[in-house]
Amino acid sequence: MLANQTLLQHPSRPEVGAPVLEVEHLTVGVPGVGAIINDLNLTIQRGEVLALVGESGSGKSMTARSLMRLMPSGISILDGTERVCGDEVLSLSENKFNEYRGARIAMLFQQPHVMLDPTCTVGAQVAEALHVHRHLSAEEEHERVLQLFRDVGIPEPEERMKCYPHQMSGGMAQRVMIAAALSAEPDILIADEPTTALDVTVQAQILQLLDRKRRESNLSILLITHDLSVVSAIADRVAVMYSGEIVEQGTTQEILHSPKHPYTQSLIHCSLLEADESGALYAIPGNPPELLSEIEGCRFRSRCPVAEQWGHPEVCSRLAPPMVEHDGSGCCARCWVGASDDIQAQAIRTCQSDKEDRHDGC
Ligand SMILES: Nc1ncnc2c1ncn2[C@@H]1O[C@H](COP(=O)(O)OP(=O)(O)OP(=O)(O)O)[C@@H](O)[C@H]1O
Ligand code: SF4
Ligand SMILES: [Mg+2]
Repeated sequence: MLANQTLLQHPSRPEVGAPVLEVEHLTVGVPGVGAIINDLNLTIQRGEVLALVGESGSGKSMTARSLMRLMPSGISILDGTERVCGDEVLSLSENKFNEYRGARIAMLFQQPHVMLDPTCTVGAQVAEALHVHRHLSAEEEHERVLQLFRDVGIPEPEERMKCYPHQMSGGMAQRVMIAAALSAEPDILIADEPTTALDVTVQAQILQLLDRKRRESNLSILLITHDLSVVSAIADRVAVMYSGEIVEQGTTQEILHSPKHPYTQSLIHCSLLEADESGALYAIPGNPPELLSEIEGCRFRSRCPVAEQWGHPEVCSRLAPPMVEHDGSGCCARCWVGASDDIQAQAIRTCQSDKEDRHDGC
């Protein structure tokens, strides 16, 4: 029998509550053209689940891929830092980063059947993932894969290890992917819509599995999802993404029950699936701006129902709002409304003097 203790020992695991992932000013885009992800800041503590939510195209998957340094060709990291368990990793060579990828920060994708190799048994694929980071004998490797299959709830693991991906259901295939992602016992799991392709019952099982792994081994999870009921069930904190920027961050309770940013408020309104008198479901009017284009002012300005009510719409149109804590709630939002009186007054003055300068220029 394999000595589990050997595998469970990991160099310098952070204490519970200590940060395992710290991202500052991350900007990702096409060099010389523009940014897709702009000035992204987030921290995840050991054992914490941070949900990243936002509408389609807002940059959630690009964020995940950037943190794993798996961007599509033509896209580069333009600025910022990423610390994994205290170590800055964005400046590392590809070879050195490979020591972190999988071992300390792992990723789970949306469609398990697309990610699994159809020509290889699922047992061999998990063994391969394990092999990259742990040098075990063939017998130890077999035992470890068996243990991982049991751990993620795959019944008859000895038999299932010999199956090919097409012989498994979506839920079982996603369990295989989780086994592969967790094989080297990473500190952080980035899960990009891990349940979207699964039916509702299986979705709940996979979420329970991730939640159990978090509680048992203090795994930290960055969970990307569209589904606010998933957020409510599993996340400790939430970051809301709009047009390549995080526009609000706070505890799950704060964000879902007392959102500060008009975009978050609209997103939650959409999730309630309320119909108006004509029977039409509420949808946020308009579209987000083109990500690679130069954007002046607040990115949500053209869709925002609050800017005019506030009385200083010119500030929203001309100045990008900073991320500030609102009402001492611990919840931060990128919106002028709700910022302190001093910050608002300063923005209004800047806008007025800009206007006067322009008139003088004429
Ligand atoms: N290879 C690429 N080159 C240029 N832009 C890209 C490339 N891949 C993605 N993008 C742009 O990056 C933006 C963010 O895409 P991303 O896939 O991160 O969105 P998302 O929030 O994950 O959306 P969804 O919820 O639909 O998965 C998109 O607007 C897309 O146009
Ligand atoms: S800064 Fe202005 S436009 Fe942007 S979300 Fe706040 S109120 Fe709306
Ligand atoms: Mg995506």
